[in-house]
Amino acid sequence: MSEPPLLSVRNLKKFFPVDRRAFRHDREFVHAVDDVSFDLAKGETLGLVGESGCGKSTLARCIVRLLEPTAGEIEFDGRRIEHLRLRKLRPLRREFQIVFQDPYASLNPRKRVGAIVGAPLRAPRSTIRGPRPSSRRSPPPPFSE
Ligand SMILES: Nc1ncnc2c1ncn2[C@@H]1O[C@H](COP(=O)(O)OP(=O)(O)OP(=O)(O)O)[C@@H](O)[C@H]1O
Ligand SMILES: [Mg+2]
Repeated sequence: MSEPPLLSVRNLKKFFPVDRRAFRHDREFVHAVDDVSFDLAKGETLGLVGESGCGKSTLARCIVRLLEPTAGEIEFDGRRIEHLRLRKLRPLRREFQIVFQDPYASLNPRKRVGAIVGAPLRAPRSTIRGPRPSSRRSPPPPFSE
């Protein structure tokens, strides 16, 4: 029998109000993510391709609950997480994360790449298995584009 998926997304939707004024009943919404479903198995890689603004980042943010989905179901490792409160969500944050596409905003230029990328592996009570990153220091690589 095949293993259940690590991540299962069903009918996920995220709508943003276009006009944020309160008490408007005729509000319009951007349908940033509209009815997305997929399964992802352990060890599998999924590439999401689409034009700018089609909702790729919004989908990822909803899955890791940096945004509240408007509708849909998210199951991670056999557990429904779309309505989990922060307290129960926090331990799961060790298991998944986003690497944001803007390196200047997400990577600290004062730290070495090894220190940044290795930080989760050195975190206490890390559930990630594998060899620990080497603490051996090497000279910084020459600057390149
Ligand atoms: N916080 C927000 N409030 C309102 N609208 C938003 C918000 N975040 C995203 N949107 C809108 O949702 C749509 C999807 O945006 P998103 O950033 O997910 O696209 P993307 O596919 O990641 O684009 P890119 O390839 O440029 O990164 C766009 O129309 C965007 O303007
Ligand atoms: Mg994006």
